[in-house]
Amino acid sequence: MTPLAAPVGDVRVSASVEETERLGERLAPALELGDLLVLSGPLGAGKTRFVAGLARGLGTAGRVRSPSFILINEYRGRLLLLHVDLYRVEPMDVDGLGLEEEIGRGALVVEWGEKLGQRWREEALVVAFEVLSAHERRLSAGAQAGRGLALLEAWRRLAGAEEHGA
Ligand SMILES: Nc1ncnc2c1ncn2[C@@H]1O[C@H](COP(=O)(O)OP(=O)(O)OP(=O)(O)O)[C@@H](O)[C@H]1O
Ligand SMILES: [Mg+2]
Repeated sequence: MTPLAAPVGDVRVSASVEETERLGERLAPALELGDLLVLSGPLGAGKTRFVAGLARGLGTAGRVRSPSFILINEYRGRLLLLHVDLYRVEPMDVDGLGLEEEIGRGALVVEWGEKLGQRWREEALVVAFEVLSAHERRLSAGAQAGRGLALLEAWRRLAGAEEHGA
């Protein structure tokens, strides 16, 4: 599978679990109904911790865990967050899951999202996770069009806000 590349300016290094969760939490206010976040990267890269941050940022009370067997977890906050993990799904089976219908109900965040076809990724914010060391993760964001680009702008503003001490 081809790695999802991103320009240098959209790359963030997280030095802790909390920092990864904070990135998700601070991106959450930008999420709208029908948005798609594609998370790619290896086991233990921090994708689920990032989703926990998104849920917290939407004002969800419950705990976020891997949706391994249920396939879709739902977190109700300001917006319904639909959390999917495609780890155990074959890329050829993805189109049969009915994700098109789900995305009309909330914002969709997909772990192992590299298994989604290009058609899906066109309007998505894609975040590629890499393991740098025991505690460091590199998160590289990219987008091609539409809401994906709007979310990429929000991602870039996170960096700006940090530099100004927010
Ligand atoms: N900077 C960091 N950000 C996120 N997680 C980190 C970081 N440093 C260490 N970790 C550890 O890495 C692991 C990340 O787990 P997580 O479940 O979020 O990964 P994942 O990408 O969802 O993996 P999987 O593909 O298995 O679902 C946790 O055990 C966490 O404690
Ligand atoms: Mg996970």
